[in-house]
Amino acid sequence: MCGIMGYVGSGETVSIILDGLEKLEYRGYDSVGLATVERGRIKTQKTVGRLAALRKMLAGNGKRGGAGIGHTRWATHGRPSERNAHPHLDCNQRLAVVHNGIIENYQELREQLQKKGHIFISETDTEVVAHLIEDYYKGDLLAAVRRILGQLKGSYALAVLSADEPGKIVVARKSSPLVIGLGTGENYIASDITALLDKTRDLFILDDNELAEVTPAAVRLTKADGTEVTKEVFRVEWDAVTAEKNGYEDFMRKEIHEQPQALQETLAGRVDWEKGTVVFPELKIGRDDLSAIRRIHLVACGTAYHAGVVGKYIFERLLRLPVEVDLASEYRYRQAIIGPDVLTIVISQSGETADTLAALRLSQAKGSRVLGITNVIGSSVAREADEVILTQAGPEIAVASTKAYTTQLLSLYLLGIYFAQELGTLEEALRQQLLTEVKLLPHLLEKTLATETKIKEFAEDFKAKENIFFIGRGLDYPSSMEGALKLKEISYINAQAYAAGELKHGTLALIEEGVPVFALATQPDLYEKMLSNIKEVKAREATVVALVSAGDYKTEKSVDYALYIPKTHPFFTPILAVVPLQLFAYHVAKVRGCDVDKPRNLAKSVTVE
Ligand code: F6R
Repeated sequence: MCGIMGYVGSGETVSIILDGLEKLEYRGYDSVGLATVERGRIKTQKTVGRLAALRKMLAGNGKRGGAGIGHTRWATHGRPSERNAHPHLDCNQRLAVVHNGIIENYQELREQLQKKGHIFISETDTEVVAHLIEDYYKGDLLAAVRRILGQLKGSYALAVLSADEPGKIVVARKSSPLVIGLGTGENYIASDITALLDKTRDLFILDDNELAEVTPAAVRLTKADGTEVTKEVFRVEWDAVTAEKNGYEDFMRKEIHEQPQALQETLAGRVDWEKGTVVFPELKIGRDDLSAIRRIHLVACGTAYHAGVVGKYIFERLLRLPVEVDLASEYRYRQAIIGPDVLTIVISQSGETADTLAALRLSQAKGSRVLGITNVIGSSVAREADEVILTQAGPEIAVASTKAYTTQLLSLYLLGIYFAQELGTLEEALRQQLLTEVKLLPHLLEKTLATETKIKEFAEDFKAKENIFFIGRGLDYPSSMEGALKLKEISYINAQAYAAGELKHGTLALIEEGVPVFALATQPDLYEKMLSNIKEVKAREATVVALVSAGDYKTEKSVDYALYIPKTHPFFTPILAVVPLQLFAYHVAKVRGCDVDKPRNLAKSVTVE
C-alpha cells in the first residue's frame, strides 16, 4: 500500500524524505513522487518504478530548509504512471497533496469540480482533494483543509503543502494511519512509524477525524470541527524491525489484525449505497456477455483455491449456473472442457503463480474470457487477464496468506452479487439483505479477532499433537480446508479437512481418545447434522474445538472448547470463520517455536511449476 513521508525544518528536505520513503519500500509500490516549495513555487518530481530512480533524478538537489512531502503509490484508481503518481496539484499549482486511502465519492466530486472549471490531469481519486482545497483556500491552509473534510467519503491520510505558506504541512486522517514525528526545530510526518525511527522516537499519533498544522517550531492539533486537541507524546521503544511490524511480533499476526481495514478498502467504492447496487466500473463484461455464459470455472492454488471453493457455493447460489472449481495444477492437464461459453475466474494473491498463469493462458487459448482476481497491480495476472479485479489487502509479507484470502472472498461475494444483479437472478429483498450485511463485515471481523484471547490460552494443549482434523459442512467445508492448510504450513502438524458427512466413510477409524477435531458449525440449515458429527467423534473421545455463531450455546455442552463468531448472514460466515482458524494455526505454531513468517520449504510467490 502507499506510503507518506514529509519534513519541515532546516535539514536536507529532499534526502530526508527519500530516506523515509525508502523505509516504506517493503510495503510495495509502483511509482513515487515528491513535492517541495522552491522560490515561491511548488516543485514536483515523479517517476514510475523504483525510488532509486527518483533519487537519481534528484541527485544534487541538496535543498536545505522548508517543507516537503513524498509518496510511494500502490495504484488503485488509475494505472501506474507519472501522471497518476502523487503529489497531485490544484489548477494553479499552488497546492500539493499526497494521500493514502480511497476517496469513495471522487467521481461525483470530480464532476462537480469540472463543472466549476477545474482541470484534471490524472485518473486518481486523490486529485479531487487538491482542487477542493483550492476552492476554499484563502491564505490559511489548515482552515481550507478542515473545510473540505466533510465532503470526503472513504478513507484518507492526507498531507498538504501550499506555495503560499512554505514552511508548513497540514495533515488529516480518517481510517488510514498518520503519525507526526517530533524533532528540535524540525518535525516530520509519515504514514508509518518505521519511516521516522532513525530521526525521532517521539510522536503524535493522529486519531480519526483529527488534523494538524506542522511547522518546524510547533505542531497544532485540532479536530475536524476546529476544537483544539492536546495529546500526550508517544515514545517508541521498538527497534526498526519491530516497527515495520507496527509493534506486532510477526507479519502474520499483523496481517491477521489488518483484515478489518483490508475488507474496508476492498469494499470501498464497490457499492452504491443509495441505489443498493454493486458496482464494478472497471469490468468490460456486459449483460449480454454474461447472458451468453453457460458455465464458470474457478481456478487457483493453495489458499486462493479455497477462496475458489467458497466462490463455487456463491456463484451457484446466486446465478444458478454450473460452476467448477479446480486446482490450477490439475486444470492445466486434465483436458477440461473450455470454450467461449465458459467464464474462467483465476484467483491469485501474487498474480505470478506459474500454474495459475498457465491455466489463464490455456483458457484464453480455448476462447474463454478470463477474469483475474489479484492483489498485485502490474502482476502477470493483472496484465494478461481480460478483466481484472484488484483486492485491496495491501502488501502481504508473511508467507501464509491471511488478509489476501478474506479480501478474495469479499471480492467473490461482491462479484457474485454484481453478476446476479446484471442477470436478474437475485431477488431484490435478498440483495438488499446481503448488502446490509456486507457493510457490517469489517466491523464483525474486528469483533472476531477477540477469539484470540481464548485461543492463546488453549494453544499449548495442542502443542504436542501429531494429527488434527478439521470438519465442516456446506460453506464450513472450504473454511475447514483453509484451517487445515494454515496449521500444516506454519506449525508442521499434519492436518486433514473433511466434509463432516464423509467421516463415516473411512476417517472415523482414526478418531480415538485425545485426537483433536476442529468442528465448524456455523450453517443453520446443516447445524443438526453437524451436531451429530460432533457427537460421533466425541463418542470416540476426541478432543473437540467447536466454532459456532454467537447465540449457539447448545454446542458448548458437547465439546471441550467453544469459539464464537459474531452473527451474520450464513452466506458470509467463511469471511469470519477463517479468522479463529488463522489465529489457532498462528498460536499453535508459536508455542511450538516455529518461524511463522517464513515456514520451511515455502515461498511467497511460486513462479515455478
Ligand atoms: C498458503 C499460501 C499458498 C498460496 C498459493 C497461491 O497460505 O499462501 O497456498 O495461496 O501458493 O498463491 P497465489 O495466491 O499468489 O497465487
